[in-house]
Amino acid sequence: MDTQSVDELLDRGGDALPRRPGIPEPRREALWLLAAAWGRDTTWVRLHRETTVPGEVVRRYEDWLERRAAGVPAHHLTGVCPFWGRPFRVSPEVLIPRPETELLVERALALELPPRARVVDVGTGSGCLAVTLALERPGWRVAATDRSAAALWMARRNARALGAGARLVLTDLVAGLTGPVHLVAANLPYVPAQAMAELPVEVRHDPRGALDGGPDGLALVRRLLAGLPRLLSPAGVALLELGEGQAEAVAREAAPWGLKVAARIKDLGGCERIVELRPRTGRRESS
Ligand SMILES: C[S@@+](CC[C@H](N)C(=O)[O-])C[C@H]1O[C@@H](n2cnc3c(N)ncnc32)[C@H](O)[C@@H]1O
Repeated sequence: MDTQSVDELLDRGGDALPRRPGIPEPRREALWLLAAAWGRDTTWVRLHRETTVPGEVVRRYEDWLERRAAGVPAHHLTGVCPFWGRPFRVSPEVLIPRPETELLVERALALELPPRARVVDVGTGSGCLAVTLALERPGWRVAATDRSAAALWMARRNARALGAGARLVLTDLVAGLTGPVHLVAANLPYVPAQAMAELPVEVRHDPRGALDGGPDGLALVRRLLAGLPRLLSPAGVALLELGEGQAEAVAREAAPWGLKVAARIKDLGGCERIVELRPRTGRRESS
């Protein structure tokens, strides 16, 4: 009963998955799940449509289809999410890395920082930012914080598996860290509390503590801004990921802390997703 072809399974998967914003193309999603359940890539699976799929793969695929239809994100089923081309382990205790966060990486790698720059990733979750920056710039001295021990455990696991050296610190934002730091990268929770109930079903599987940014979404960002002046070097940079319509408020709130907006980077949807802040008195540094 378990011996079925790729084509049959994809047809069944396409029918089993409901089309909704989180699953815009059910058959494509089914293909992705079947490939992951089989440990193959999607192109290989597409090229083997008549092939009989092993029983244990069929059982895993069918279990995943059922849970996916119920709203469990695909990356929670597979336990892995790609970020900047590398596989990061994920669990329900960490935010699934989002493609838009790669914009922050892109900007960070374009900065002219000292070869041994000190970098802090605040609210590291899976470790995707800290690990990526440490691997892409091996000279940088990267630290990462989170207040969730479970998240730090996953970040440590990812750092080890991918061979990145990053110091992981269980703390509130940047408490206990000392400067000068050349780059602060932060994708902190920024969803306004009252919007939490309206999030798509998939997003509601992310930990609340990774999403809920308080009444206007900026409670944590605001607290981080207050910590930046003592931490950032005079030529330092802070890259903050934000939600829709928050960049203006952050620019306003950063000013009293002696920080100016040096750039606002839009994502593909036109949202000002990344804000780059620098000390107003900033100057170039060579080390
Ligand atoms: C939106 S997730 C981002 C995770 C990861 N940096 C990414 O981009 O995928 C926010 C992270 O901030 C952490 N966090 C929330 N409040 C914090 C705080 N007060 N201090 C440190 N980390 C915090 C959460 O536990 C979560 O891992």
